Amino acid sequence: MIRFQAVHKSYRVAGREVPALQPFDLTIADGEVFGIIGHSGAGKSTLLRLINLLERPSGGRILIDEVDMTALDDTALRAQRRRIGMIFQHFNLLGSQTVADNVAFPLRLAGERDAAAIRTRVAELLARVGLEAHADKYPSQLSGGQKQRVGIARALANRPSILLCDEATSALDPQTTASVLELLAEINRELKLTIVLITHEMDVVRRVCDRVAVLDAGVIVEHGPVADVFLHPQHPTTHRFVDEALPEEAAAEQARYAQIPGRILRLSFRGETTWSPALSRAMRETGVDFNILAGRIDRIKSMPYGQLTLALEGADTDAALAALRAAGIEIEELKA
Ligand SMILES: Nc1ncnc2c1ncn2[C@@H]1O[C@H](COP(=O)(O)OP(=O)(O)O)[C@@H](O)[C@H]1O
Ligand SMILES: [Mg+2]
Repeated sequence: MIRFQAVHKSYRVAGREVPALQPFDLTIADGEVFGIIGHSGAGKSTLLRLINLLERPSGGRILIDEVDMTALDDTALRAQRRRIGMIFQHFNLLGSQTVADNVAFPLRLAGERDAAAIRTRVAELLARVGLEAHADKYPSQLSGGQKQRVGIARALANRPSILLCDEATSALDPQTTASVLELLAEINRELKLTIVLITHEMDVVRRVCDRVAVLDAGVIVEHGPVADVFLHPQHPTTHRFVDEALPEEAAAEQARYAQIPGRILRLSFRGETTWSPALSRAMRETGVDFNILAGRIDRIKSMPYGQLTLALEGADTDAALAALRAAGIEIEELKA
């Protein structure tokens, strides 16, 4: 478990303290995939680097399994850091060393001298990330996705319990991003690793995270289970990430709704209700007509969800709403 208690961070720039993170509390549970999303400069990397104390907080405490990281001496800190792996946007591989040597590097750094043990462990790690055939290549001979897999193998070398990912897929194309995220999800499941990942893409959060915090100019403006944040964003910044709509587009949408007759609702389906015919049943039983204005059916991690914007017309729209609610569908009224 990672706990931030009243942590804040300022950088000293030209003799002045410039705040990067306002005081915050946050708990990340063992075994979860926790996402931190925010625009460039929001403080994401700073927050992530506080976890392994690559940055020291200006105040507050960072506890990992109840060990206060800020109170450790150098030797104890090095030992704790071995339990925390990290991967980076630009991979940070050693260009003059082979894939196998890049992965062996943290093992040697941790004091392993037994060449056979290193070979065995490296082979195991390369198999885990699907790069068995590439051990003797150099980073320049690999694709971006393969380089990040080397980065992941290297990060896992010393069997960490936490993996930090700093924009790990931001330099990759969408398909490669999906396969790297799938690998991270698998590692989380099978090795029970806690993963903290930062990103500026909501799609990354949607695919792998259990919970998410939204960071805006050094402030955590919202956090919670991904489905809650995704389906019911509260803060304008979160809206921007979820809707990917510009505020003026959202305003135009609202104006358009005013022209459409009837009550306008947004329905959210989660899990199994996504596949049940609850909507047609409720409408048939109450004699209400509906028109679909917008919609999306997708997945949050492995949970299916749907969101539909409907205009309702009919005598008893209240009864239709009650029937939908009874079927476990969440309803927001966009126009009465
Ligand atoms: N080493 C540093 N020295 C001074 N300012 C920094 C340093 N690192 C980051 N900052 C500033 O702190 C803020 C947050 O940066 P960062 O954590 O890198 O944001 P993000 O990762 O969300 O893009 C930015 O305003 C950035 O300029
Ligand atoms: Mg960053």
